[in-house]
Amino acid sequence: MRRRVIAGNWKMYKTLAETRAFFSAFAPLVANSKHCDIVIAPPFTAISTAAEAAKNTNIAVSGQNISWSKEGAFTGEVSATMLVEAGCRYVIIGHSERRQLFRESDDSVAKKTLMALGAGLIPIVCVGETGEDRDAGLTEEVLRRQFSGGPGALTPEEFSRILIAYEPVWAIGTGRTATPEIAADAHRLLRRCAGERFSVPIASALRILYGGSVKPDNIKGLMAQEELDGALVGGASLDPKSFASIVNFTA
Ligand code: 13P
Repeated sequence: MRRRVIAGNWKMYKTLAETRAFFSAFAPLVANSKHCDIVIAPPFTAISTAAEAAKNTNIAVSGQNISWSKEGAFTGEVSATMLVEAGCRYVIIGHSERRQLFRESDDSVAKKTLMALGAGLIPIVCVGETGEDRDAGLTEEVLRRQFSGGPGALTPEEFSRILIAYEPVWAIGTGRTATPEIAADAHRLLRRCAGERFSVPIASALRILYGGSVKPDNIKGLMAQEELDGALVGGASLDPKSFASIVNFTA
């Protein structure tokens, strides 16, 4: 049985004061939630504040991105070691907003994943097709390409330490959630890719999160699919009550 992960991606939202207020309200609401791992990814500036607020709770902190380099003259970049020092246990890599708006390639996703693993972070590697890809019948091809260029480039040992997030681009921030069946189909495909590239036991242990307009009112239906090992939540993770009710979907 794979342990579920519910992660919130705050994107470019929340000041330090808002981060503190979120944790004060959220931590008590999930203090008894033992059925899943709980992760929050604040913007870089709020990571230390979040990590401090998350001390002695069941909430882990994640970065939203890292550099593919250890250190150096890379203005504006933040390294994996810096994230660990600031209090992160996880890092999101290759989010579709990074791929689309900041031109991240599968190759940089692979390099960043290695950096994260080297620093002891748990990478949450994102893949997902655009609406145009899906309409053109290219979903499988795109997911296979993103898988083989990114996670598929790892060794079996490295691969066994990552999480994958399937985030169809057409479902992100649009309120158009993938149906549980569409999401499960994509997860099955990704698991098949893992089985072909690595082994069936490694593929069966892989945790795949779904992301894209996950809300308190659709989490139960999504989690009813055995293939879905959790969720990566954007907008609905900004409000403590709404994110807590997503975490507590079984209640
Ligand atoms: P929304 O939940 O706002 O659609 O965002 C999903 C996402 O991109 C999480 O990484």
